[in-house]
Amino acid sequence: MHKALLAWYETEGRHDLPWRNTDDVYHVYVSEIMLQQTQVGRVMEEYYPQFLEKFPTLFSLSQADESEVLAAWSGLGYYSRARNLHATAKLCPHELPQNMQELQKLPGIGRYTASAICSFAHHQSVGVVDTNIARVIKRFFALTKASEKEINARAEEFVNAQEPRAHNLALMDLGSLVCLPNNPKCELCPLAFACEGKNEPELYTTKEKKVYENMELFYGIYEEDEKIAFVQSSSRMYKGMLELPSVEPVEEDFIAAFKHSYTKYRLTVNLYKITEVQGEAVWLAYDTLQNAAISSMTKKALALYAKKREGIEIG
Ligand code: ADE
Repeated sequence: MHKALLAWYETEGRHDLPWRNTDDVYHVYVSEIMLQQTQVGRVMEEYYPQFLEKFPTLFSLSQADESEVLAAWSGLGYYSRARNLHATAKLCPHELPQNMQELQKLPGIGRYTASAICSFAHHQSVGVVDTNIARVIKRFFALTKASEKEINARAEEFVNAQEPRAHNLALMDLGSLVCLPNNPKCELCPLAFACEGKNEPELYTTKEKKVYENMELFYGIYEEDEKIAFVQSSSRMYKGMLELPSVEPVEEDFIAAFKHSYTKYRLTVNLYKITEVQGEAVWLAYDTLQNAAISSMTKKALALYAKKREGIEIG
């Protein structure tokens, strides 16, 4: 089975992903944190190279201000990932630990990330289990009610001690390209000959029903001398980020509204013109917004405002 899996990976695997063509632990670490909640294409094109250019080493990240790190993360969402990455760099500025136990003591590093670092950067013989691999393991061993612990244990048993890195990457790709949640392509699977779950593949799919929450938000836009007023976010989710000041809606000052999705929220965002800000304002010129720690939602708000106010380009 190991041989069949590796032969499949050799010809069908995604070998061109940049974080698979490096042994740099820090690069692997950054990629895994980005890939936790963001798709491969977006990470590869819009964030991973840019982030590494800005912070090429763990040490350089440790020396940065949190606001710079959040600015490099701007638009990626789940900003606690960036805060934890930075906190970890500050705790170990020269080198990350090289084993599962110590890695998991660091902010934002759970079992999956620790195992990915140990397997992909250090070639250690550990089982890696992401959502895709979990599905492959459950199907292959016909585990309909397995706990996370049991799936991890199966992954550990199944790992190829000679080629742990390629083995885990192969399982990951098998899960995302062949062993799909619905209508898996068993005819293309190198493990089909021994798969205990292939006759009823749907038994191993956890149908997570996403629960969305509607929310209405009201923000003020205060512009002076081509600068916009921001405040430090007071929410936990956006801690360390700048956002537009929240306001009580006043109908005659309404500018525009738009819809935006963020994590489990379906937001309706309403913008109002304001001429004063409660608390301390941070004024940012239009041409510095690109490099500021602001969310996609805030960028969208500003772009809409700029369109309404014509003549101002916002990146
Ligand atoms: N290669 C290594 N880790 C990966 C991940 N989390 N997603 C996609 N490809 C990867």
